[in-house]
Amino acid sequence: MSLKPPALGVCYYPEHWPRDMWADDARRMGEAGISVVRIGEFAWSRLEPARDQFEFDWLDEAIDALGSAGLNVVMCTPTATPPKWLVDELPDMLAVDEEGRPRKFGSRRHYCFSHQGYRHEAVRIAGIVAKRYGNNPHVIAWQIDNEYGCHDTTLSHSPAARDGFRDWLAQKYQSPEALNRAWGNVFWSMEVSDFDQIELPNLTVTESNPAHRLDFRRYSSDQVVTFNRLQADVLRKHSPGRDLIHNFMGRYLEFDHFDVSADLDVVSWDSYPLGFLEQFGGDRHWKNWYLRAGDPDFQAFHHDLYRGCRNRWWVMEQQPGPVNWAPWNPAPHPGMVRLWSHEAFAHGAEVVSYFRWRQPPFAQEQMHTALNRPDNSPDAGLEEVTQVARELQHVPPARTGRAKVALVFDYPAIWASEIQPQGADYAGFELVFLFYAAMRRLGFSIDIVASGTSLDGYELVVVPHLLMVSDKALDAFAASTAHIVFGPRAGSRTSSHQIPANLPPGKLQSLTGTRVVRVESLRPGIQIPCEQGGAVHRWFEHVEVADENIITRCDRDGRPLVAQMGRVHSLAGWPDENLLGSLLKEVAGEAGLTVVDTGDDLRIRDHGTLRTIVNYGPRAHDASHLIGKGDDILLGDRELPIAGVTIVRRA
Ligand code: GAL
Repeated sequence: MSLKPPALGVCYYPEHWPRDMWADDARRMGEAGISVVRIGEFAWSRLEPARDQFEFDWLDEAIDALGSAGLNVVMCTPTATPPKWLVDELPDMLAVDEEGRPRKFGSRRHYCFSHQGYRHEAVRIAGIVAKRYGNNPHVIAWQIDNEYGCHDTTLSHSPAARDGFRDWLAQKYQSPEALNRAWGNVFWSMEVSDFDQIELPNLTVTESNPAHRLDFRRYSSDQVVTFNRLQADVLRKHSPGRDLIHNFMGRYLEFDHFDVSADLDVVSWDSYPLGFLEQFGGDRHWKNWYLRAGDPDFQAFHHDLYRGCRNRWWVMEQQPGPVNWAPWNPAPHPGMVRLWSHEAFAHGAEVVSYFRWRQPPFAQEQMHTALNRPDNSPDAGLEEVTQVARELQHVPPARTGRAKVALVFDYPAIWASEIQPQGADYAGFELVFLFYAAMRRLGFSIDIVASGTSLDGYELVVVPHLLMVSDKALDAFAASTAHIVFGPRAGSRTSSHQIPANLPPGKLQSLTGTRVVRVESLRPGIQIPCEQGGAVHRWFEHVEVADENIITRCDRDGRPLVAQMGRVHSLAGWPDENLLGSLLKEVAGEAGLTVVDTGDDLRIRDHGTLRTIVNYGPRAHDASHLIGKGDDILLGDRELPIAGVTIVRRA
């Protein structure tokens, strides 16, 4: 059997169950319409119980049981869970937290990306597993490791990281003088005369130099890239023709996912909508309203972000019911697992794979539901999965193509504003997400692209949060014929985290016609109202700009809030939803784009000639305003019940 997208998958742990269950599990997976099974990502202690003693029989048999039932196997490298004997051999492979404490064995991800010895071990085990299964006809793809960075593991303050950081800096700056200049080390007598004098930026008396910290973030991100690439190389060697995949997380920002993706064939992510809402999302009212559905834009944002990383993408782990790791763990509305699945396919997912086949009665995740309960009786999710499998047979696969609207996303910008927030509630990701959600409410299907990507073909480009502007990014903005909206803090730092010589927005001044002469951050509750309604809060910039370029001013003192030069708009603060919504609507109009008002709960995604409409709200909605007269309804109805999905072919 080969993979035919759109396909359904499941995460499976044969090592957790008696062998005599495997064939029956495989049969039932097939019956449910599942065709992809991911295995082995945490199985190192069962594959190599002691150094160089391998036990492959069980895995041979498991793959055979799955393959014989017609299932495609995604094999994993087990490097997220190094076994105890290995940690005992290499005790300094453990990551070290910001307080300088080594992180202990006894859960997972207990390794430091910079540790050369552990890198060697990771490549060794990946090579051994790849040699054994690389040409197995049932193995169609590889997942490398599992969720890089999960449990705060990207940054490690170990001796290995310190040594690696020194080398990295020596290569980047070539001389200590150049580094001193770039970082501004004359301040507080921080100058060094040798790269070996540089320490990691933790445990300093008061804050360490932001340029030092930004370089440490870049260095740490690069170690994830290298760690992944080393395994990718060995897998490509021993398993030609198989896709290489990694499973990213939601709202995880500590390494540059665009960079890691360059060594993958397919990007995937792990989508836990209710866990994410409880963990991250919004005020009490919002969380209550979407308690059983998740934030209506959070999943879509990540689908678009990760599609932007590599074009081909999957959901590797889809929430099937209550999870165990959020502060509270509610159950989804009946139908939500189905909705999340259709939504992912509408954004172009090739595979949606559920976490996991059966809930284990033991260990850390015993409270995490699965498609089957611990006693092997089917749980609610399984029925919805079976329904999705049936429905996919009647819906043509999504063709995402290029959207008309792009959002520029930059990981280093997030790091820079985390390092120097300047206001206690300034969170770059939230600002980006605010823009994304506002555009979705106007009915747009959105591409998320890395800074510096060509913007050819887009009609509207939003750049919510881009602190450092590379020459490539400047060229892309200058060459684009799109209408562009810059958010606050655009161009406010050089690549060395300094204020640009010509003041913010630095290089962008030629496009925006603005010059920021002062910034202020504002306590929650303080608003700066805008003449035409709406307001800015949290962050406000005092901007010099020619009178004729001022579009909107503050209500009270007439300071500029929105400026426009040609097709470029810039915002001098953190907008509230009203201000942002009306600005984007106006600019979209100038760009010749049609907008609709999806309302709070409905969302649409256009793909090829199809439009998928989903209802995240806890009540039914009529979606007639989102469906054209001649549109052909392929799935669902004009009236969407709770968790409703409607797919139409547009006239
Ligand atoms: C993911 C992880 C899985 C499992 C799951 C539980 O973050 O990759 O191994 O822990 O969460 O929701």
